[in-house]
Amino acid sequence: MAKPRTEPSPPHSAHHGPAAVIVLAAGAGTRMKSRTPKILHPLGGRSMVAHALDAARGLGPERLAAVVRHERDLVAEHITAHDPGVIIVDQDEVPGTGRAVEAALEALDTLEAGQAGEGGALEGTVVVTYGDVPLLTAALLAELVAEHEAGGNAATVLTAVLEDATGYGRILREADGTVAGIREHKDASADERAIHEVNSGIYAFDAAMLRDALKQVTTENAQGEKYLTDVLAIARAAGGRVAALATTDRWQVEGANDRVQLQALAAEHNRRTVEAWMRAGVTVVDPATTWIDATVTLAEDVTLKPNTQLHGATSVQREAVIGPDTTLTDCTVGEGATVKRTDGTRAEIGAGATVGPFTYLRPGTKLGPEGKIGAFYETKNAVIGRGAKLSHLGYAGDAEIGEGANIGCGNITANYDGVDKHRTVIGAHVRTGSNTVFVAPVTVGDGAYTAAGAIVRKDVPAGALSLSVAPQRNAEGWTEANRAGSPSAQAAAAARSRAADSPSVATPTENEEGK
Ligand code: UD1
Ligand code: MG
Repeated sequence: MAKPRTEPSPPHSAHHGPAAVIVLAAGAGTRMKSRTPKILHPLGGRSMVAHALDAARGLGPERLAAVVRHERDLVAEHITAHDPGVIIVDQDEVPGTGRAVEAALEALDTLEAGQAGEGGALEGTVVVTYGDVPLLTAALLAELVAEHEAGGNAATVLTAVLEDATGYGRILREADGTVAGIREHKDASADERAIHEVNSGIYAFDAAMLRDALKQVTTENAQGEKYLTDVLAIARAAGGRVAALATTDRWQVEGANDRVQLQALAAEHNRRTVEAWMRAGVTVVDPATTWIDATVTLAEDVTLKPNTQLHGATSVQREAVIGPDTTLTDCTVGEGATVKRTDGTRAEIGAGATVGPFTYLRPGTKLGPEGKIGAFYETKNAVIGRGAKLSHLGYAGDAEIGEGANIGCGNITANYDGVDKHRTVIGAHVRTGSNTVFVAPVTVGDGAYTAAGAIVRKDVPAGALSLSVAPQRNAEGWTEANRAGSPSAQAAAAARSRAADSPSVATPTENEEGK
């Protein structure tokens, strides 16, 4: 089933969009109060800037640039790892969004000149977005570009009408409704602050106009910054058409400045993701406690029970049931499998298999079709064959378990000798008794059995029964002799006198071994 989200198209898709998108990512983001740069904080399984880059890439621009400065190396490395095609541009010490765009335009012009020869410069539409606006979609950006190009505009700004516009730049309009410019909150008069239509900070510009206008932008304002917003009035004064596209979806233009806003955006992102999957045929019992990363894929008729988190590259096939209380990261779940109260990372769960409750699947776990890993089990690097069952209480690490094997309660692979890890190989249709310990490296042949409490130190041939039981000795009368007066001693005395009265009761010395 195709992913239900409307964006993004994969990186390096055909260029059909604007000449360039510039993502601004130089700011410090001090209000996060974090060692991690603001735009690297994640929501929905990706950093904020990765969301921003995906939306930008989804437009299919010829060039995609990101402007960096704060924590430059860390941010640049992160951006390049996410999308190697992004052109990293450094902003100098002149502050402001206008300066950031100017730096990007210079870098893009240099690239263009390199390709087109002397005098070449970027032409056409340049889109500007922010690295800290994670819910923006390629679809809304495409609407902005279409509006901009259809109107032959010099600049088109994406706006939203907010009840509380505090802090935002306000959209100034003439009496006839045309856009006159943008006034920053800090520079605005009381009348201007009463305006509810705000600048999202996302624009489409004509490259040539933008280049010329930026030359005229000064730092004479309340913040001493080169404001990108000044470009609109300058373009208008030069005779260009300036317009606005107002969106009613305020979440798409909302930025995160602190952790409260980040959480609100993460919750909304998740609400949208969960809703999209429900519309695509997934049953979500409790959307409020179900978290699905943008990178997860689900098939029709999957059921997600309350308190389930699906992360990373997790994918779930048809009719599988996940949850309640389950966290899966980079896991694959086969058709019709059931995974209950489980924590799993990089595990593969076969079709029709069952896992849980209270199960810990560590990386390298591969559970075959119709297999079972039951309650209080931990697995790691364990390849488990079709229909094999590890039903209760145990650890299987660095192990291979054949198809149809039945691993008894409390079995342990002792894989670590204090220095190295070793493998345990258990054949097909093996039956192991409770509390068997496999001291690796060790191999158990097909169809072999182990007795309860077996400590398997040597290889077991196919079809053999492995026993390592010490002979049992019962010290008769021990409790009454050593724990006189205790409830146990009293119970023992009572049992002894009952046995004396009715000799038909079995004596406790009967040998149970081998059953
Ligand atoms: C900006 C807009 C404002 C708009 C608001 C929307 C300007 C002057 N103001 O204000 O009209 O309502 O966004 O959120 O543009 N950045 C750089 N280099 C810089 C400064 C900023 O790359 O020198 C980046 C930041 O990392 C951020 C974005 O630009 O991603 C916006 O910067 P920010 O300082 O948050 O601008 P605001 O004051 O919020
Ligand atoms: Mg801001």
